Amino acid sequence: MKGVILAGGLGTRLYPLTWATNKHLLPIYDQPMVFYPIQTLVKAGITEIMVVIGGPHAGHFVSVLRNGKALGVRHLEFAFQDSIVINGQKTEGGIPHALALAEDFADKKPVTVILGDNTTDADISVDVKGFKSGARIFLKKVPDPERYGVPVFAKTDPQKITQFIEKPEHPLTKYAVTGLYIFDDKVFDIIRGLKPSERGEYEITDVCNAYLAKDKLSWSELKGYWSDAGTFRSLFMASKYWAEKNCP
Ligand code: G1P
Repeated sequence: MKGVILAGGLGTRLYPLTWATNKHLLPIYDQPMVFYPIQTLVKAGITEIMVVIGGPHAGHFVSVLRNGKALGVRHLEFAFQDSIVINGQKTEGGIPHALALAEDFADKKPVTVILGDNTTDADISVDVKGFKSGARIFLKKVPDPERYGVPVFAKTDPQKITQFIEKPEHPLTKYAVTGLYIFDDKVFDIIRGLKPSERGEYEITDVCNAYLAKDKLSWSELKGYWSDAGTFRSLFMASKYWAEKNCP
């Protein structure tokens, strides 16, 4: 299995920290943010990795990651996500637009995808090794699900997801969709069929809904710590977690 890390975007929620470098190179405690998703992939046995980068500081990734060998990466590739115009507005395109750049790299095989601002100590090796087809996603209970993609569960079966909603105002569950996904090669056809959302981006939640509609989506609860780090508070809390874990 190959891995893709999505580390594009402008990181506007972290201005002024991201004026001078990319969000995914900011520190979470003692490491650049992007090291964490790389370590998650390497721990799961994935050592062929593409990092999708973007924005004005994309060149900084090469100085920080070099060839990836120090992190246990056997093959490291970069792809550059350009901004696009949707409905007359210049946008970064969103997560599926970034993932689309990995189609040739994936080479018609499944890929494990992680958002570059996600940090976890969970081990997803079993899911990676056991993956056959469709999509597998990972949920985690959070205090603020309205910040995330959120599942809607069937009234008759609390294990069955009927829909995903991106950042609902009033979520009916505490579960959030984490930024870790395993997709088969159909993901690229699904992305080609997406329409932009109201905020003018392609949404990963729509990709998950497309798999759900074909009854091809499975999920599990992520075991261990998980957080994103795209806001001041989550960046601080993630640093605090890793500082206390590594230096109690
Ligand atoms: C993105 C996804 C969202 C997911 C989250 C996980 O949100 O759109 O569905 O729950 O990542 O980190 P963003 O961080 O881009 O707001």
